[in-house]
Amino acid sequence: MAQERVALITGASSGFGLLTAVTLARREWRVLATMRDLTRRERLESAARAAGVLGRIEILALDVTDLEQIAGVAATVAARGLRMDALVNNAGFAMAGFADDVTDAELRRQFDTNFFGAAAVTRAFLPQLRRQGFGHIVMVSSVSGRSAFPGMSSYSASKFAMEGWSESLRLELKSLGIQVVLVEPGAFETDIWTRNGTLSEGTLDPRSPNAARVERWKKGIEGAKKQPDAQVVADGIAAILEDPKPRLRYVYGRDAKMALMMRRLLPSDVFERLMVKYSGIDGNAG
Ligand SMILES: NC(=O)c1ccc[n+]([C@@H]2O[C@H](COP(=O)([O-])OP(=O)(O)OC[C@H]3O[C@@H](n4cnc5c(N)ncnc54)[C@H](OP(=O)(O)O)[C@@H]3O)[C@@H](O)[C@H]2O)c1
Repeated sequence: MAQERVALITGASSGFGLLTAVTLARREWRVLATMRDLTRRERLESAARAAGVLGRIEILALDVTDLEQIAGVAATVAARGLRMDALVNNAGFAMAGFADDVTDAELRRQFDTNFFGAAAVTRAFLPQLRRQGFGHIVMVSSVSGRSAFPGMSSYSASKFAMEGWSESLRLELKSLGIQVVLVEPGAFETDIWTRNGTLSEGTLDPRSPNAARVERWKKGIEGAKKQPDAQVVADGIAAILEDPKPRLRYVYGRDAKMALMMRRLLPSDVFERLMVKYSGIDGNAG
């Protein structure tokens, strides 16, 4: 009988992480679903129960900004003799706010989770992946890791960092049998837009030089149409993990594909004018 494949996912309490955990379990993977707050496990448990796969999912505590906890989880996996077919670095949040309003502490907090967290979790599992000589590492980046939007400089910067780091890591690990892949979704319906959406305090301050622009920007977001179902991304990640030779990048969502195509094809000044206009920050002036 073929050995059971094992995946570890960060940020599995909601969104892409939760859906990927259930999707992989349905495809007969064993899933180590990690989350920073175990009191939030119920949503994953009921989704897994409804899909009849609760027995294939083990929930573990992991805050990707906690280096001791990361080392502990990696040691537990190794001590239990579990193989590691896949690591999905999914945990993240979006810090919105104009660059001059975001404080240094806020910018660092964004990087601590989205970039340093993902890098630390990856490095903690690299010894095991090297010993095995196989494994996939999926980095959940964003279209914002390829093309920046106004009002999202902190988030974009953290994902650009992830992109560069992962591209280099992929080349370093290529001859060792370990695959590194970047997943780049556009906007999908998850908690990143609601519960986990964060706006810098300075941007909320009515004395901010950007106050009027933020109001226009927020109205644009509120008026945006409903986002597509995040299951598309979970299915995509599962397919990547089952592909022995995946590409470096996978883009999901019409909005992301369109933005990247326009960036590639349009003269840069036309593209930039469109981005500003689309964001609504300058009213009709953009
Ligand atoms: N949805 C989109 O439109 C979109 C587009 C492009 C990229 N992405 C990326 O997709 C990934 C998943 O986000 P999502 O859209 O699925 O949003 P989500 O529903 O808000 O899920 C984010 C997950 O990350 C977890 N998390 C946040 N900080 C953490 C930390 N320090 N340690 C461990 N877990 C932490 C959250 O845990 P809690 O439940 O404890 O908050 C939650 O489980 C993120 O990296 C995001 O940047 C999302």
